[in-house]
Amino acid sequence: MKNIKAIIFDAYGTLFDVNSAAEKCKGKIGSKWESFANYWRTTQLEYTWLRSLMDRHKDFWQVTEDSLDKSMKYFDIDSSMRNELLDLYKVLSPFKEVPEVLKILKEKNYKLCILSNGTTALLNELIESNNLKNIFDDVFSIEEVGIYKPSSKVYDMPIKKYNIQKNQVVFLSANTWDVSGGGNYGYNSIWVNRNSNIFDNLDYKPSDEIKNLKQLLDIV
Ligand code: LAC
Repeated sequence: MKNIKAIIFDAYGTLFDVNSAAEKCKGKIGSKWESFANYWRTTQLEYTWLRSLMDRHKDFWQVTEDSLDKSMKYFDIDSSMRNELLDLYKVLSPFKEVPEVLKILKEKNYKLCILSNGTTALLNELIESNNLKNIFDDVFSIEEVGIYKPSSKVYDMPIKKYNIQKNQVVFLSANTWDVSGGGNYGYNSIWVNRNSNIFDNLDYKPSDEIKNLKQLLDIV
């Protein structure tokens, strides 16, 4: 990896822990909280892909609500939990190494960005609630192109804005399919494999694999 100009992060699942909303309610939800959280996340992502294929866009917040409603039914979770879960989703916690690593990277000479399915308002709320203001040069939301990842239109946004080559980007995601999407587009895609998962067979293998973002500091 030479002449890297931008380090671009996925948000949900990579910087911010999508399971942290349900985890904070585990006293009320009980031992099924983690299966419920995983089902909610999977359904949410399926809805993004299906809506893009059907050409029926709804923004990420609406998709998050729709997928929560199905998941609460499936897991028989009391409807009184709905607002609490949604409020917590707006202030998801970062993975523990994230604030420190971002502050170190900020001192280096790269553009630092988020590129996410989330709306600009949602992403800014996550940044503010986690004291990460003034870290990112740009927050790119798919709302600008109206189609979800892994459409190449999404990954194209920073390239157009910075007028750089695709291989001058290091892209980080914990979502295997997003690593493939970015790599398919032409980024150097690094897989943040926090839970020792298995990679996808989508014609792309990550440039690197790391266990957490701290290991990124050994690469860039
Ligand atoms: C995002 C999803 C993919 O932040 O996690 O774009």
